[in-house]
Amino acid sequence: MSGLDSDGLREKLPVLRRRWDPVVLTVLCKDGPQRRRNLSQTVVDEGERIADGVLSEVLNRLQQEGFVAKETRSPNVVLYEATEAARDWVEWLRRVTDLSARAGKGAIAVTDDSSTHSAVDTTKPSSARVWNYLLGGKDNFEIDRKVGDEVRDANPQIATLALEQRKFLVRAVTYLAAEAGIEQFLDVGTGLPTANNTHEVAQRIAPKSRIVYVDNDPLVLVNARALLVSSPEGATDYIESDVEDPDKILRQAARTLDFSKPIGLTMLGILGNVADYDEARSILKRLVDVLSAGSYVVVCDGTSTSQENVDAVRIASEQGHPYNLRTLDQITGFFFGLDLLEPGVVPLTHWRPEVDPLPPAVDCYCGVALKR
Ligand SMILES: C[S@@+](CC[C@H](N)C(=O)[O-])C[C@H]1O[C@@H](n2cnc3c(N)ncnc32)[C@H](O)[C@@H]1O
Repeated sequence: MSGLDSDGLREKLPVLRRRWDPVVLTVLCKDGPQRRRNLSQTVVDEGERIADGVLSEVLNRLQQEGFVAKETRSPNVVLYEATEAARDWVEWLRRVTDLSARAGKGAIAVTDDSSTHSAVDTTKPSSARVWNYLLGGKDNFEIDRKVGDEVRDANPQIATLALEQRKFLVRAVTYLAAEAGIEQFLDVGTGLPTANNTHEVAQRIAPKSRIVYVDNDPLVLVNARALLVSSPEGATDYIESDVEDPDKILRQAARTLDFSKPIGLTMLGILGNVADYDEARSILKRLVDVLSAGSYVVVCDGTSTSQENVDAVRIASEQGHPYNLRTLDQITGFFFGLDLLEPGVVPLTHWRPEVDPLPPAVDCYCGVALKR
């Protein structure tokens, strides 16, 4: 394989910040111990991004050697399942694909868990994947893109809304980490890894921050390792759970978070997945009740503030992707018993924006509140 001789790889890999396991080096470099030694020296702990094209070359070679089986789920999503022969170094493969996801190529995932693998249903749209499409990501299938396009036709603002939700996450988490001294986060309804995941924003400011992610989408689980690349001083964890099981979330989050100290609870675009408003409120209350004083709650959700948004959500629901818009009063009701920070419950774009004048409002309202 011309692209995989050690000189070629040496050129491409100086930016790879990982140790390549001997078994992989052997596969890649069968033609001599010296070459293998050179290659190992080249790839140890340098830089931070995996070079373009290298990952797919490596995975193709591993596939030829029978170490992974490749399945193309859509033009954008390729899953590799480690075979029996590769059982001992599945973790290694995962680390490589984490780097790929962090470099913005998150469409490749490796799993040795065929139940997770097969749980990725490409015939029905998923909230995480449609959202990923609207954000301009590649972790989505044809059905997600179809629903995403129809939703955007009904409400052309929706892609802006998705991007604004991420920007709100950045501003809110930055405020909590930089000004409120919060070093622990529970992010429920995480979404597929993208730029500015919660731990990246928090740990940029406070490297020892500890973050727990929660989602119930199998593709988020497959890609979750990209969320688990913590700073050495901090920690990240991932819980696969339905938001409707807050007790499970709390039990498992306690592995990583100290509930006797303040936590930032973020629930962005997730409570609308709970059909009944009172049920959504009681889930939130169950989570908030166990937070210590000094904790913060960050919530945003889609609202029925324009006919376009109502139409968009109706179309999505008809396509098998139901969502429940709330009224402004209902979003405000999520913060009952908490001290809402200025400017209160407002459209995403109006929460402490970094631009002046205020950008146009979007059909998604948010707030940040302190638990006293
Ligand atoms: C609209 S996306 C929001 C993603 C992210 N919070 C953001 O702001 O970009 C909603 C996320 O909630 C997850 N989700 C939907 N229903 C859920 C449920 N019942 N339990 C847990 N997670 C759920 C989806 O898988 C998806 O990742």
